[in-house]
Amino acid sequence: MTQLETSFLDSRYAAGKGQFDIESIREDFPILGREIRGQPLIYLDSAASSQKPRQVIEALGEYYQTCNANVHRGVHTLSQEATDLYEGAREKIRAFVNAEKVEEIVFVRGTTEALNLVAHSYVRDLLEPGDEIAVSGMEHHSNIVPWQLICQKRSARLAVIPITDEGEIDLRELDKVLKRRPKILTLAHVSNALGTVNPVKQIVKMAKARGVTVCIDGAQGAPHLPVDVQELGCDFYCFSGHKAFGPTGIGILYGRFEVLNKLSPYQGGGEMILSVTFEKSTYNHLPFRLEAGTPNIAGAIGLGSAVDYLNQLGLPALGAYEDALLDYATGRLLEIEGLKIIGTASSKVGVMSFVMDNVHPHDIGTILDQRGIAIRTGHHCAQPVMDRFQVPATARASIAFYNTREEIDELCTALQEVGRVFR
Ligand code: ALA
Repeated sequence: MTQLETSFLDSRYAAGKGQFDIESIREDFPILGREIRGQPLIYLDSAASSQKPRQVIEALGEYYQTCNANVHRGVHTLSQEATDLYEGAREKIRAFVNAEKVEEIVFVRGTTEALNLVAHSYVRDLLEPGDEIAVSGMEHHSNIVPWQLICQKRSARLAVIPITDEGEIDLRELDKVLKRRPKILTLAHVSNALGTVNPVKQIVKMAKARGVTVCIDGAQGAPHLPVDVQELGCDFYCFSGHKAFGPTGIGILYGRFEVLNKLSPYQGGGEMILSVTFEKSTYNHLPFRLEAGTPNIAGAIGLGSAVDYLNQLGLPALGAYEDALLDYATGRLLEIEGLKIIGTASSKVGVMSFVMDNVHPHDIGTILDQRGIAIRTGHHCAQPVMDRFQVPATARASIAFYNTREEIDELCTALQEVGRVFR
């Protein structure tokens, strides 16, 4: 990096730091005080699952300790309190993604379930033999396989939009695919394997100009970037709670009301019905029609608490801090002999994927673990991305706003040692 770039980054870092106190933020995350193999944990695997602040952990405990009961089913006080908390969480999430209506927010298990829901309850019935579903070449398996499953059933096919050597979507190729009017375009807001931030607003505009429905997989986007589904103009947006500082087993699907209202029931059971006889059942209105069975009440409340936490810290301040940290980390990694970063898009968040000469990523991960450093190694559930870059696997360090420059320095020291050992 040039002197100018470094001082620019320093000033952004200072700006980010000036708006919140990293030490007190770290104290909100009890797990960050853990030692691994006698050394302080350095957690650089937030893209796989983020850590949870005390506020989220306490919200879960409080629900179970004070008002655990089923929702929408009881006239008793506990059930009403649980319902208020559960529906209150839905409203918090509506505001978080700026959906127009609270009915547009469906609680699901996570991104994977959300994508399967859209595929099976909506797109499958629209598919005719020979139709296409457009996906980008940087998708993780959750945004490939559900679509493959329905294509197989309907003799339809996936149209894959290629990505460049930097790991960006080729927009000219995208437009060629859109011209063929796929039944849906589904793509990541942010790539989990490369860190690329896709220009989703521009892409939605291109798709809408061709009348194509758009689904955005926000699993890696929502934890880092402000999301405004109305401004984006997308039809669907989904993300997982556990990557966004909330609990596991909960996530949301946003669907624009007119489109979401066309989804057929996904699973049958309680909550999603209005009336049942052995001859015929009638179905509830949105969002309950798509939430069969007792939902993950605690998870939803915990996710609402995570959203409160992010709002309280302020996404712009978090984003500025993370951007500066990613830039710093990228610069430091590039100083390491024999290390190559996979994914060099001009706009990135959260993720640094890399390979090192003569070292398998799993060996990197194992050696780092000896030093208390947690990264992910492998194909990151994105094998086609590995194929595109002709690597079997990468090592991936992924950050969140609770990471520090000192942790990045420790990572780099450990990687230098890995390089020396295998040279
Ligand atoms: N999709 C998650 C990851 O990127 C599991 O690690």
